[in-house]
Amino acid sequence: MSHKENTKGRCVTLHMVSSLDGFIAKKDNTVSWLDTPGSVYEAGVSISEEEAATFVKAIDCYVLGSRTYEHALELGWPYGDTPAVVLTGRKLLPARKSVEFYSGDLKTLVDVQLAPRYRNIWLVGGAMLSQRFLELGLVDEIKLTIAPVLLGDGLRLFADSLTEERWNLKNVVAYKNGFVELSYQSSM
Ligand SMILES: NC(=O)c1ccc[n+]([C@@H]2O[C@H](COP(=O)([O-])OP(=O)(O)OC[C@H]3O[C@@H](n4cnc5c(N)ncnc54)[C@H](OP(=O)(O)O)[C@@H]3O)[C@@H](O)[C@H]2O)c1
Repeated sequence: MSHKENTKGRCVTLHMVSSLDGFIAKKDNTVSWLDTPGSVYEAGVSISEEEAATFVKAIDCYVLGSRTYEHALELGWPYGDTPAVVLTGRKLLPARKSVEFYSGDLKTLVDVQLAPRYRNIWLVGGAMLSQRFLELGLVDEIKLTIAPVLLGDGLRLFADSLTEERWNLKNVVAYKNGFVELSYQSSM
């Protein structure tokens, strides 16, 4: 496994796709900016569906905020049957068997609820939940994919409540479609 595990044996990876100007969603919530075809970056790599499936199979659990959950359901659930924990203070209906809901302290969620069951935990947004995880020091790795587009407006990836913290660059992958994936590990 390339991901770093901490002493508790779990690794929380924050994965987000951002525009060049730091937005993760447009105001109208449309996602066409994520897959509008652009020019091909010849030196980039592309991954086969098989490779992508093998990669995704290694993810033990997804964690997401309720707004991301609702949007993901609208778009067509991308997380398959992998367990997914949705954060909400509301009474939502689980749209799939693999979904469970959680409300409350996030450190307890990670250390008490998730770590004993899952090792490779992916936090997949949105902005609000990612911010809280970062503030609490619960993120071990950041995988940030930059899309080759300026949006001008929308939901900011990072708000201004974070404090200065050094992250270690671990990998860079440039894809043929112009997306670049940056992987960082926490220095804490
Ligand atoms: N580009 C990307 O990579 C990417 C990735 C993910 C999402 N997105 C986009 O980002 C947008 C959603 O992001 P967002 O920042 O608005 O919302 P979000 O982080 O997905 O969800 C926020 C909600 O999570 C719940 N929550 C957070 N902490 C909680 C806690 N400790 N206990 C209980 N509930 C808690 C609350 O739900 P309740 O209000 O239900 O109580 C809160 O309103 C969508 O447009 C989505 O498509 C983009």
